[in-house]
Amino acid sequence: MCSVSLRPALPADLDALSALEQRCFDSDRLSRRSFKKWIKRQHEGLIVAVSPKQEVAGYALVLLQPGTRLARLYSIAVDPAQRGLKLGERLMEAAEAYAHEERRLYLRLEVRKDNPGAIALYEKRGYKLFGLAPDYYEDHQDALRYQKRLHYRPANDARLHLPWVQQSTPFTCGPACLLMALAALKGQTPDTTEELLLWREATTIFMTAGHGGCHPMGLAIAAHRRGLDASVWCNQTGPLFVDSVRDPDKKSVITTLHQYFVETCREDGIAVNYEDFTAVDLDQAVSDGKIVLVLISTWRLDGRKAPHWVAISGSDEECFYIHDPDPGEDQAPLDCQHVPISREKFEQMRKYGQAKLRTAVVLGT
Ligand SMILES: CC(C)(COP(=O)(O)OP(=O)(O)OC[C@H]1O[C@@H](n2cnc3c(N)ncnc32)[C@H](O)[C@@H]1OP(=O)(O)O)[C@@H](O)C(=O)NCCC(=O)NCCS
Repeated sequence: MCSVSLRPALPADLDALSALEQRCFDSDRLSRRSFKKWIKRQHEGLIVAVSPKQEVAGYALVLLQPGTRLARLYSIAVDPAQRGLKLGERLMEAAEAYAHEERRLYLRLEVRKDNPGAIALYEKRGYKLFGLAPDYYEDHQDALRYQKRLHYRPANDARLHLPWVQQSTPFTCGPACLLMALAALKGQTPDTTEELLLWREATTIFMTAGHGGCHPMGLAIAAHRRGLDASVWCNQTGPLFVDSVRDPDKKSVITTLHQYFVETCREDGIAVNYEDFTAVDLDQAVSDGKIVLVLISTWRLDGRKAPHWVAISGSDEECFYIHDPDPGEDQAPLDCQHVPISREKFEQMRKYGQAKLRTAVVLGT
């Protein structure tokens, strides 16, 4: 329908968008408040199809994931009276163009398994099935996950088969990443009890706020004791993470554990390399099928400066891909799996704290 044009949403569209949402979805509807938020926050990503009289006939909402090369099609809908007129395709095209302009490499989306019309639309536009999210919608229906690469696929593309595990507490990112490695390398089924036991073995007890996270050597020891080949790379000798707390008693606990981890690595024959694990090393490890756990600062992902473990799930000329065990607000698990991060951004993310700690745990069989 050529008389319909596309443009970014305006506050004046709010009522029409809410009404359209009611007509198009039976559940999991976006609220008026959400539309308002997106118009304010990321107005260009909420694309509306309007008639010459400015009546809203459809919309597509694209969210950009900070710090990454990912975009997500959060929702798309066309007024029932206007379906079959290629408006869905035009909205998809505009959504992809927007994500591409914003330098995103992939557009990802979820769709109900029982929505053949939308699935046909995505497949027609070249989206590839990428995963399944059981029990995803309010009525417990499963979601299919699709993605499309928005520009050419670079050479040297290496993708690991790495199951993704969501951390079940705010402090178990390291154990969740180790569970991913144990699932990939040993076929071990991820389990919350094991996640907590791994944390007990590897934690520094204190670190920034709340419970402490995990020490790279602690993770390597826990991995080694479960039959994995583990080595640690660290650009400083430590003790690590003492600067993240002020209290002298906490510093002392962290230091004691650091010394214990150093000693235990020596006893268990775990190699600790006091040098940086570079991008070249990372590429090599990925192509050798090793699972690398890397400590990052979450600054570029969510604006907090928290230390956070992620697992590398692949690499290509442009990006490293990570499995992040911690979905943030407004994020689906899909946003945390094989997340493309430009090599340049990843280099910056890999420095934690004032001391610019760079550390990684390399796991194999
Ligand atoms: C999905 C939706 C956006 C499609 O919008 P639309 O404007 O009718 O789609 P288009 O006219 O652009 O269709 C483009 C292609 O999509 C596919 N398609 C769209 N609707 C379809 C249907 N009901 N059955 C089968 N294929 C369909 C076809 O391949 C079609 O190409 P063709 O006409 O050459 O066969 C619309 O049906 C809708 O709003 N549905 C309710 C909300 C929804 O389910 N959103 C998706 C949430 S994940």
